[in-house]
Amino acid sequence: MKWECKRVVIAGGGSDMGVACAKKLLCQGAKVVLIDISESLLAKADGLKEEYPEGIWTCIGSVVSVSDMEKAMAFAKEKMGGMNVLINCAGTGGRGTVEEMRPESWQLALDVTLTGTFHSCRAAIPYLREAGGGRIVNVASIGGRANRPVNTGYSASKAAVCGLGRYLAKELKADRITVNTVAPGPINAGMFKASEGTEDAEMQKARKMLEETVVLGRLGEMDEIADGILYFVDDAAEAVTGEILDINGGAYMC
Ligand SMILES: NC(=O)c1ccc[n+]([C@@H]2O[C@H](COP(=O)([O-])OP(=O)(O)OC[C@H]3O[C@@H](n4cnc5c(N)ncnc54)[C@H](O)[C@@H]3O)[C@@H](O)[C@H]2O)c1
Repeated sequence: MKWECKRVVIAGGGSDMGVACAKKLLCQGAKVVLIDISESLLAKADGLKEEYPEGIWTCIGSVVSVSDMEKAMAFAKEKMGGMNVLINCAGTGGRGTVEEMRPESWQLALDVTLTGTFHSCRAAIPYLREAGGGRIVNVASIGGRANRPVNTGYSASKAAVCGLGRYLAKELKADRITVNTVAPGPINAGMFKASEGTEDAEMQKARKMLEETVVLGRLGEMDEIADGILYFVDDAAEAVTGEILDINGGAYMC
């Protein structure tokens, strides 16, 4: 299937990762729907909407809500004429040690990251099946693969996303739907990206500490993670399912 035939839904699509994937997909002729809880984050795609008026749509919805996700997938089908790819980027919460963490933060991590991925997959599967097959790519984290400092709820929810992906790959094999997971290491995003070029000593110290946790000695770039996600969407990955791709600069070796 050529890139022009890809009909892609990105949940948590207002994230820098969602927008980075959308850019790469659109310039190859794919169509994209971004779903996110944050209207202001979805506005990051306004420029892409101007550039590709027939290629990208946005939809407000929470992955925590079953009905929001059902409505969002129906919206995607209406706008794109179907869907054959789902990328799950939504994730949040759960930072801190078990003793420090508020139970609400633990619950938020599980609700958005794990249950949200489940709701999104569940709502998308009938459309992927209707398309005759497709791809699901879930975004986990190094936190779900190895011990990282003070990330208990986040790490537990991301580890569960890895488990969900492997199980779903088996469940959907007869439907020609592959399910894979990308587990990024620390990325040059958010506060780190925003502070680039500034003299902020605290930020530089935090960045250096993080950089020292990976063999390559630098943070990953969002485009590098997007390339990993799109590998699983590419026709070249037809025979790949149930896999986890670690893009972490060699964090396991530190
Ligand atoms: N930035 C990193 O260093 C890093 C490292 C490893 C993994 N990740 C993972 O990559 C993904 C993207 O992260 P990011 O750094 O681009 O930014 P991010 O934290 O901004 O991405 C999270 C996105 O999820 C959305 N979201 C939150 N709750 C939602 C809900 N209930 N319904 C729908 N959307 C919701 C947010 O609005 C946001 O757009 C996340 O899953 C994150 O955990 C990030």
